[in-house]
Amino acid sequence: MRHLITTDDLSVEEIEALYEEAESYLRKPPPKLLQNRLVITLFFENSTRTRSSFEIAAKRLGADVVHLDVAKSSTKKGETLYDTAANLDAMGPDAIIVRHAQSGTPYQLSRHVGCAIFNAGDGAHAHPSQALLDLFTMRRHFGRDLRGRKIAIVGDIRNSRVANSNMRLLPRFGLEMLLVAPPHFLPDSDLPATTDLREALEWADIVMSLRTQTERHAHPIYASLKDYAKDYCITKDRVGERDILLLHPGPVHRNIDIDDAMLADPRCKVLEQVKNGVAVRMAALKRLILANG
Ligand code: NCD
Repeated sequence: MRHLITTDDLSVEEIEALYEEAESYLRKPPPKLLQNRLVITLFFENSTRTRSSFEIAAKRLGADVVHLDVAKSSTKKGETLYDTAANLDAMGPDAIIVRHAQSGTPYQLSRHVGCAIFNAGDGAHAHPSQALLDLFTMRRHFGRDLRGRKIAIVGDIRNSRVANSNMRLLPRFGLEMLLVAPPHFLPDSDLPATTDLREALEWADIVMSLRTQTERHAHPIYASLKDYAKDYCITKDRVGERDILLLHPGPVHRNIDIDDAMLADPRCKVLEQVKNGVAVRMAALKRLILANG
């Protein structure tokens, strides 16, 4: 059984093939390759983009999609997550797409079910489909060969599953990375890091801004996000005329992560990422579901 728990579940060759497929879906409507297939979405954490993106991707390929309303589900009545999953599995889905505040939940579920598990974000651990769409967006801009391109990831890296997945995925494609954050937002990592955004902007071809993951802070770290923004907001003043690609997984804290002017700037590809996300998720759903027979 194939699952997508982390980006390491796919080889470089498989990711390349996935991107070919995603490109074709952007050119023309996809064939209904997942007709009569069933996809269940199970989100224990809030989501705007990721859930709808997976649902649209599955529907575009002809699959039936059922969303389990977690707030009304039996886990609220004391059923364990595994029993919930086993019961969903008994209904014969081809894939369950799961998001959970606790790292490791998708992996644990994958050991209890007979269908493909797609990790749509688990705690601060991983968000593989987001990293895959981020890399796809970079390739669409710079071309297939990204070796030597420089990306600065800016923000609450320590608590970000998006950063975590990108930190594993992007070096496999030859990108150079720089982590940019105040000390308490920097992770334990061997990757180069700086607290100085100005230095990072001088260096980078690509800037990936992140939201401050306040929901994962045990104690408030900044009195106000405005204090963070003073040093780390990606503003038009700071970026100037530099030829950079600006990414953000959303949701954006406007004028904290990125200012109004940069959000409206053509160098900012946030909505491009959202569009590409549907195509990449289509390719991933198709590949794993059909591989599982
Ligand atoms: C991210 C997430 O949920 O991890 N958003 C997303 O999936 N597009 C990032 C975030 O919440 O800041």
